[in-house]
Formats: sequence, C-alpha cells, structure tokens
Amino acid sequence: MARLLLIIGGGIAAYKAAELIRHARKMGHDVTPVLTEGGAHFVTPMSLAALAESPVYTSLWDLKDEAEMGHIQLSRAADHVLVCPATADMIAKMAAGIADNLATTLLLATDKPVTIAPAMNVKMWQHPATQRNVAQLRADGITVLDPDEGAMACGEYGPGRLPDPEAILAALPLQAPSASPFGKAGPLAGKHILVTAGPTHEPIDPVRVIANRSSGKQGFAIARAAAAAGARVTLVAGPVCLPTPPGVARIDVETAVQMRDAVMTALPADAAIMVAAVADWRVEGAATQKLKKGKGAPELKFAPNPDILADLGEHPNRPALLVGFAAETNDVIDNATAKRERKKADWILANDVSGDVMGGENNRLHLVTATGVEHWDEGSKDAAARHLIDRISQELS
Ligand code: CTP
Repeated sequence: MARLLLIIGGGIAAYKAAELIRHARKMGHDVTPVLTEGGAHFVTPMSLAALAESPVYTSLWDLKDEAEMGHIQLSRAADHVLVCPATADMIAKMAAGIADNLATTLLLATDKPVTIAPAMNVKMWQHPATQRNVAQLRADGITVLDPDEGAMACGEYGPGRLPDPEAILAALPLQAPSASPFGKAGPLAGKHILVTAGPTHEPIDPVRVIANRSSGKQGFAIARAAAAAGARVTLVAGPVCLPTPPGVARIDVETAVQMRDAVMTALPADAAIMVAAVADWRVEGAATQKLKKGKGAPELKFAPNPDILADLGEHPNRPALLVGFAAETNDVIDNATAKRERKKADWILANDVSGDVMGGENNRLHLVTATGVEHWDEGSKDAAARHLIDRISQELS
C-alpha cells in the first residue's frame, strides 16, 4: 500500500481524477486529494472526499494552522505525488518554480518522487513553450507521462488526452500491495500477455507499400488494459503513430513476416491476443529500386503471408488462451465461428467493420467461444479492452 498525494489541475480531464481515486483505493492505496481552483470548476471536493475517504485540501490558507497539517508536512506525508491532469499553466509554473497556490507550493516543497499526467488541447501540448517546460521538468527528475492521442473534447485531434486512470496508476512506481514476479499487482500479475496491433506494410518498392486502414487503437488499448491489470505485456506493433502504453514492452515491425518472427520470439505467453490487421499477401520479389512510371504500370505478383494466429494455434508452445479478432463486413457471427475453428483459436472477437470502426473510437464486439456467443454493448475501444481483460483474468485465474 502506498500513500498518494493527488493534485488535480483545472482541465476538462479533471473528472477522470475521480475514477483514478476509485481505482487507487481498490488497489489498496491511500489518496489525499489537493484540488486547484481550476480543478474545482470540474469536480467537487465533496465527491473527491467521498471516494478518497480523506479530507480534500484546496487552499494554502486551509493549512494556516500548522499544528494540524502544514504544507511542508502535507507535501512529504505521501510516498508519491501525482499531478493529474497537469495543465499547460501548471507545467509552466512547475518549470519556473512558481509557488503561488497550495498545489504549486506543495510541488516545490516535496521531497518525494513526482509524476505528472498532462492533458490539454493538442496545440497547447505541441506549443514550443510547453515542450520546453516539459523538457525542463524531465531534466529536473520529474516523470512526465505522454498524453494519449485521439479526438479531444474541444473537437480537435492529436496528442493531449489524459491516458486511462488505470494506465496512469500502472505507470507509478507505487509499492504493490502484493508483489508479483514482475513487481506488479492486479488480477494478471505474474502473467505474460502477447498482443499484436495495427496494420502491416508490405513493400512494393523502397517507397511504396500495400497497407490497410487499421489504426492500432484497439490493440494498444488491450495492451494498456493488460498492463494496468498487472500483466507483463509484449506488444508487437505494425506501423502506427500511437504512444506506447505505460509499462508495455513494444516491438515495432513493418511486415507480416517480421510480425510473425517477433511473436514467435516472444513466446511463451499465457495469453496471446492477435488484434493486428495482418496483410494476407505480400508482393513477391518487391523491387529494390523505386519503380519509375516511364516503364509502364508494374505487374505485381503476390505470395501468401504467414497466418500468425493459425501458426500459434498449432504451435508446440501454444499460449493457454489464444484470442483472435475477426473483422467482417457481412455474416459476422458465422464467419467468426468458422474462423475460430479454422485457426484453432479459443476465442474470436467478431467486429462489424462495415461502418467506421477502423480508425474510429468505438467498437461493438461479439465474443465467440467453444460454447456460444456473447454480444457485448457498443462502447469505446478502451471499455472493450477492459472488458476483454476482465474476461481473460477470470479465464486464467
Ligand atoms: N491474422 C493473423 N495473420 C494473418 C491474418 C490474420 O494473425 N496473416 C489474425 C488477425 O490478427 C485476427 C485474425 O487472424 O486475429 C483474423 O483476421 P482477419 O483479417 O479477420 O481474417 P483472415 O485470416 O484475413 O480471413 P478472411 O480473409 O477470410 O477474412
């Protein structure tokens, strides 16, 4: 059990601090919330106090009575200080050493490790001033978590979203209530989970590839949820621009053959979840020099790629639980059921990709097992990932 001092900055993501407190309490940690004036516009001290079962500190002047708990004492009573969400303003003040309110004063006075989880508009995050301040904080020894990329509350798209509360907690070096062989706690502690994600790129020549529309978001969300549940996670990722989830070992690959090799090298695993949209064919004899258009349209010949899921299904080191996805545009359940048998997988998660699922934020999944079909509610890819990891935790326990 660890004691966490949680400083909540003034951003739309402040509401997620409440969820973070709930998870931290479930993990057995003590949380003392400090709510900034800005944060109080988004969450109330009352809800934080109820979830944390602790007083919530809001002002430096609450702490006037040094006989009770002074700001120096408060800043040091914790094992770890977390700023979540950290706004651009808070980051700038921290980088400059400004102490003009309770939160910034505590951050200057603390002698404990500090982690910040920034969340802000993409332009604010990418602004040279913010990036300069972040570099300064990192140089000062503060852990700055990378924000997630995606659609933002303000309607723009890019990095700036607060990562999942569970992922933030998994990134903190908090002492686990029950240490696992990997030093983490949670229902998947001690398990190795192997995940593939994203598309593959199959070269035509040195500058051209055959690709597909997979964004990698669902696979990355699953890797993140597995790590948050305490697993050791290996994520074999095709070419995507997504930040590595905290606590996940990522191996970047381009082609299906490279992905197969990386997966086989990562064995043994307790569960393998094959989410990647692997290209079924590669160009036979890809050109080693750029094809020039003056020579007429090239004729491409294709060779079949290895089927990684099917290869795992027959592997002597087959993971105890083998999970595949079936992206289908029609006859979703029938196709998924046939795929489960053909590839010797335990479970197939069928999703209907006739809409904008590829690259979209939501997913509606159907879990096909040996005994039947479960229809899951439509929800975010993060929610689907957490649901899947809960089911896997039950299965492996
Ligand atoms: N898969 C894989 N290697 C391949 C192709 C697919 O590991 N070469 C995995 C995917 O990661 C997914 C599952 O197999 O978990 C099903 O992928 P999908 O593209 O739906 O199936 P295909 O094998 O391409 O079958 P079909 O073309 O008939 O839909």
